[in-house]
Amino acid sequence: MKWCITGGCGFIGSSLVRRLQAVGGQQIRVIDNLSVGSREDLSQAALFMEVDAEKFPDFDAQQAPVILVVDDIRNEKVLSAAAKGADVLVHLAANTGVQPSIADPRRDCEINVIGTLNALEAARGGAAGRFVFASSGAPVAGNVPPIHEAVPPRPVAPYGASKLAGEGYCAAYFNTFGLETVSLRFGNVYGPYSSHKSSVVAKFIKTAIAGEKIEIYGDGDQTRDFIYVDDLIDALWLAATVRGIGGETFQVASGAETTINELAETMVPLLRAANMRHVEVVHGNPLRGDAKRNFADTSKISRMLGWSPKVTLKEGLENTIAWFTNN
Ligand SMILES: NC(=O)c1ccc[n+]([C@@H]2O[C@H](COP(=O)([O-])OP(=O)(O)OC[C@H]3O[C@@H](n4cnc5c(N)ncnc54)[C@H](O)[C@@H]3O)[C@@H](O)[C@H]2O)c1
Repeated sequence: MKWCITGGCGFIGSSLVRRLQAVGGQQIRVIDNLSVGSREDLSQAALFMEVDAEKFPDFDAQQAPVILVVDDIRNEKVLSAAAKGADVLVHLAANTGVQPSIADPRRDCEINVIGTLNALEAARGGAAGRFVFASSGAPVAGNVPPIHEAVPPRPVAPYGASKLAGEGYCAAYFNTFGLETVSLRFGNVYGPYSSHKSSVVAKFIKTAIAGEKIEIYGDGDQTRDFIYVDDLIDALWLAATVRGIGGETFQVASGAETTINELAETMVPLLRAANMRHVEVVHGNPLRGDAKRNFADTSKISRMLGWSPKVTLKEGLENTIAWFTNN
């Protein structure tokens, strides 16, 4: 298959590229502005060739299995050139996370809403068969969990609003133009190759490695739904390849509600076993816009795509801590 992946140098994007390389026979184009991910992150997933935005070769003339163009998804011309001839566009580039969206809601909107519109236009113009959108639980975070595809939209932070707009445009592009869009609402993704992330698992490990105290915001009773990156990539593959699911939204999460205190209780012995014997946990101030409870009901993706997570939290954390300590 021919893939165009926005944000392909990031945590999830480079993990997808790694998986596609392992599958073999896939042609991949990555567009990333390197604001977060790096060339090195992509090079750990695959050998790639970097090209100028004006010089995108046709997929058929592509000299390397993976091509990178360094540009911004707000540049619609480059995005259109990248998507031309792709079978599937996986749209991962975004202003990620709640806190950056609170710090600068306009920037969040420009990247997540206009950027997603550009990606949809690029897929439509390039006649892509499938468009997979990286959404999140944030569009429905204001509901009492478990969240699922039928609860009403109720964003808490600007990030949830911008991801909701992306879901809305995906539905509209399917209903109006017939572009097969699929929105995946990721839970809290963790795993190897996430060293640049400031999400809770990566942050706890980096803090422990630095010999500092792990800080839990507030009382630690807030809950999240943690999903291991390999399980998430399984779901991305299905969303990109299974026929007849255009216009659908799916929760992709573990279905388990875990408090941050429980996460820390699971991680501390694993960190100590990995030679971070000093590790200590403290409580700080709560964060503004932080959802109190968040976990998902994943029965729709299980029923329609036969997907369910395979990696337990403890196994996933062990793998992740091992990767961080070795790298
Ligand atoms: N990681 C999670 O827990 C999680 C949870 C829910 C949703 N998501 C969504 O999944 C997607 C991927 O997340 P991730 O964890 O891999 O994040 P990431 O930050 O590791 O990767 C995002 C990539 O997009 C690139 N990027 C950012 N803005 C860009 C722009 N304007 N133009 C071009 N490239 C740009 C960054 O350089 C980075 O390489 C995002 O859309 C995110 O909102 C992630």
